[in-house]
Amino acid sequence: MSALAGKRIVLGVTGGIAAYKAIEVSRRLVDAGAHVVPIMTESAQHFIGTTTLSALASEPVQTDLWHNPSTPIPHTKFGQGADLILVAPATAKLLAAYRMGYSHDLLTNTLIATRAPVIVCPAMHTEMWEHPSVIDNIDTLRQRGVHVVEPESGRLAGGDVGAGRLASPEAIVAAAERVLGPRDLTGVQVIVSAGGTREPIDAVRVVANRSSGKQGYAVAAEALARGADVTLVSTVSLPAPVGAIVVPVETAAEMQAAIEQRAPSADVIVMAAAVADFRPVAAASGKIKKQDGVPEVLLEPTPDILAGLGATKPARQVLVGFAAETDDLVANAQIKLTKKNLDLIVANDVGASQVGFAHDTNAVTLLRPDAEPVEIDLAAKRDVARAVINTIVEIRASTQTGKD
Ligand code: C5P
Repeated sequence: MSALAGKRIVLGVTGGIAAYKAIEVSRRLVDAGAHVVPIMTESAQHFIGTTTLSALASEPVQTDLWHNPSTPIPHTKFGQGADLILVAPATAKLLAAYRMGYSHDLLTNTLIATRAPVIVCPAMHTEMWEHPSVIDNIDTLRQRGVHVVEPESGRLAGGDVGAGRLASPEAIVAAAERVLGPRDLTGVQVIVSAGGTREPIDAVRVVANRSSGKQGYAVAAEALARGADVTLVSTVSLPAPVGAIVVPVETAAEMQAAIEQRAPSADVIVMAAAVADFRPVAAASGKIKKQDGVPEVLLEPTPDILAGLGATKPARQVLVGFAAETDDLVANAQIKLTKKNLDLIVANDVGASQVGFAHDTNAVTLLRPDAEPVEIDLAAKRDVARAVINTIVEIRASTQTGKD
């Protein structure tokens, strides 16, 4: 279950061109199980209609401080009942009013009359975003504990390019998950590997596999949402979860170097990558010519990164492997769990439908030494990631209790 499920989120929309993106933010929050109460300022209604947002949120848009048929006390009702207030986009005017406590309309009243956490997602032209007054307002709001989802650099209204574009709906929803979710990995150093390695045969050809990297990215996103510092060692170029340090690699050797360099300071390592088991002994320097006939490519084993980590694992470190199998799933995964000295192995039957490579869903069995296997039925990869992270948190808690 998402951290947003069942949460009451006031979505404040102010008058910027990026207001249209609030519709997508609302849709994603509702999809995650949140109850979205939309409030639009008067200026926002110049950019999008209330009908659209009313249809996609959980209840009709609120706009009015004075003639509000839904409640006699609109200035406090929405803020008092909220689990979170999210303002996207937040204009320079909204930030200034909120900073000053200048509660002149329904949204600013709601912001002042709440004890819930608040996230603001500024969006404006670069000149405005860099103006000392805006910088000052943002600093003050931050000091008061308001969460700020920084704008991106990119195309702005009128064809301008620069900093100030509203963060992506994905980043905004991830921030909401971070604020509302459990923070049980705060300060924990996590390395996640993702994607399939590519081992060169010649200058253009590679030995590859079908891993999409999606499950590893979902694990990284969930760990970030729970407060971890995440390094993602990746062979794929999926959009990185906000806040992850991405180390791009291609081959098993590059992945090994990247992980081994960082492993000593890691508290958790999740090897979700599909590392090649064999690689060409030597890659031809140019392109092997077709007319020279079928080449003989001699293969050698790659180093087993995970087995190496298992052999040198510090006591506090939680080491997690993945086992992609087509036969005897649990038995084979169990052997790897023991042989590689792992704390957890995530076994997935990549032969089953809707499971494993490229799909957005997965079904796995979680195996731990001295514990009963736990089956996770077909679910979104993010939900599988949540189950994996929950188990890691449990393992960390039991290790720490054991030390006391
Ligand atoms: O033995 P097998 O390759 O099935 O084990 C899978 C697990 O081992 C995965 O977690 C994978 O990332 C890791 N692995 C590795 N180095 C290899 C091969 C697999 O770290 N050379």
